[in-house]
Amino acid sequence: MAGSDLAELAKRRGFFFGSNGAYGGTAGFYTFGPQGAALKRNVEDAWRDRFTLKEGNREIEAPTVMPEAVFEASGHLEGFDDMLVACGECGASHRADHLVEDATDVEDAEALPGEEVEALIADHDIACPACGAPLSGEPVEDFNLMFATDIGPGDSQPGYLRPETAQGIFVEFPRLKEYARGSLPFGITQIGPAYRNEISPRGGLLRLREFTQAELEQFIDPETDEPPLDRVADVAVRLYPATAQAADDGDYLDTTIGEAVDEGVIGSPWVGYYLGVAQEWYERVGVDLDRFRFRQHLAGERAHYAADCWDAESEVDGDWIEIAGFAYRGDYDLSKHDEYGDDAFTVFKRYDEPKTVERATVDPDMSVLGPEFGGDAGAVAAALETLAARDPDAFADETVTVEVDGEPREVDADVADFSVEEVTENGEHITPHVVEPSFGVGRTVQTLLAHAYETDEVDGEERTFLSLRPEIAPTDAAVFPLVTNDERLTDLADRVAADLRAAGLAVSYDDSGSIGRRYRRQDEVGTPFCVTIDRDGVEGDGPETVTVRERDTAAQVRVPVDELADELAALRSGDEFAALRDRYGAVATDVETN
Ligand code: GAP
Repeated sequence: MAGSDLAELAKRRGFFFGSNGAYGGTAGFYTFGPQGAALKRNVEDAWRDRFTLKEGNREIEAPTVMPEAVFEASGHLEGFDDMLVACGECGASHRADHLVEDATDVEDAEALPGEEVEALIADHDIACPACGAPLSGEPVEDFNLMFATDIGPGDSQPGYLRPETAQGIFVEFPRLKEYARGSLPFGITQIGPAYRNEISPRGGLLRLREFTQAELEQFIDPETDEPPLDRVADVAVRLYPATAQAADDGDYLDTTIGEAVDEGVIGSPWVGYYLGVAQEWYERVGVDLDRFRFRQHLAGERAHYAADCWDAESEVDGDWIEIAGFAYRGDYDLSKHDEYGDDAFTVFKRYDEPKTVERATVDPDMSVLGPEFGGDAGAVAAALETLAARDPDAFADETVTVEVDGEPREVDADVADFSVEEVTENGEHITPHVVEPSFGVGRTVQTLLAHAYETDEVDGEERTFLSLRPEIAPTDAAVFPLVTNDERLTDLADRVAADLRAAGLAVSYDDSGSIGRRYRRQDEVGTPFCVTIDRDGVEGDGPETVTVRERDTAAQVRVPVDELADELAALRSGDEFAALRDRYGAVATDVETN
């Protein structure tokens, strides 16, 4: 299947298409049509089911616009850049690292300094993909990917569209920890839009300027909290570790999650746990595991916050694309917000038994410090307190020196009144670590479509069909009256469609054209089951029946109308069609036209 086939089908059948076409189109923005929006929603629901509900996590929904201070703290203002090279001839902008990777053997140009990328562009005579002019000599610059905005009129506050949903979770940690009653571990999820002003959006849903993320922030105590690794220990995975990528003859490591964690290939058991959960989930929603791997980030490739990171990658159109990232973010995010924000981004960790500890304190004589240091007396007292906690030995001599505003201030030890007292502590404040599985929903949708796209021959005709899992398919079932000139059939078809909709199923009704054409239309949008109302089903004394045809095999069974909604709901939840065939028996294809 060529990528263009899928793009054509996606547009023609209403999965997705470039936005704002009437105004010339806007690169990097896509609209999901009726089929695509339903497919995307089903993917999100399946993700929510697995990563929120089944894990016992909680979901939130935070604003997409956040004030500048958040991104100063998070590091995005300073370091969320891509390498840009602009063509001196036509003005087109390009990702310099991608041009270098396409034209040379370099696999990770993003990790190189800008000057080296400039040199590679010159050495390899790399030209502008838009107009062909040489790019040699053009500067490679850092381009911050965040969309800036103003919050409010007049003296407005600078703000940014969030580049990841994660920050909406981190900034609310002081409140979220209360909902978790201050107890670790706990996980918070969020599904929603993120925005990045990508230099070169491309590949349909693969690199957009507005896209949907499904993220989980798992807050843990790194000293004591362990994941339930045994649940996924036997999951067989294909890993592509950093060492294998760096070696000339490096190969995949086919192993299990349990072994990879035991042998330290995956450094964090929490990351290992979520890789296992993720692979099971990807299989459930229909990713072809023969076209799937986990690739570890190379050291220079890791985001500014990540201590270790693995990507889930799928093969689409011959390229490997990152569909999710699994990062061990350590205490980076919460420490930063603790430093920059007003609230405490820590939790109180209660000891099993209270501990008696020695604590160094000072009780400076302000009647001496006041006259001596004037307006700085309070700062000197505070500096003495900090020094006592950090370095009690500093008070061993007759005088002690502290720094205030870069100036040394000398104080008599007697005046500081240093002492060590025994105190009982019930616990301590710790900064939780964060493990983050972060999924791109659009990239998952594009992968599912690419992996489901199939062609074969039915009744001597070539057909294209999407072999989407019933749980994910945009439409659960299509209902067809075999002919429209027999009221017994059209009335029953109307009733069946209404009953199925009332049972919560997404139903399409089609009474136009030959039955074969109607099947093809549904096959192309991945509808897993077509229900046909024919004469055999309404004639005779028995209960009314309909035929149910399965998309991939085109096999049919005849099912009583009264049992249809339950049977289709069970198929949607994962029951096999073969079981239905065993129960009701297969019937021959019934083709008739108006
Ligand atoms: N909070 C971590 C984070 O945002 P990321 O690797 O930058 O990590 C996570 O993004 C996922 O979001 C990626 O694996 C990818 O699936 C998706 N993603 C990132 N940038 C994207 C873009 N420009 N267009 C579509 N999806 C994107």
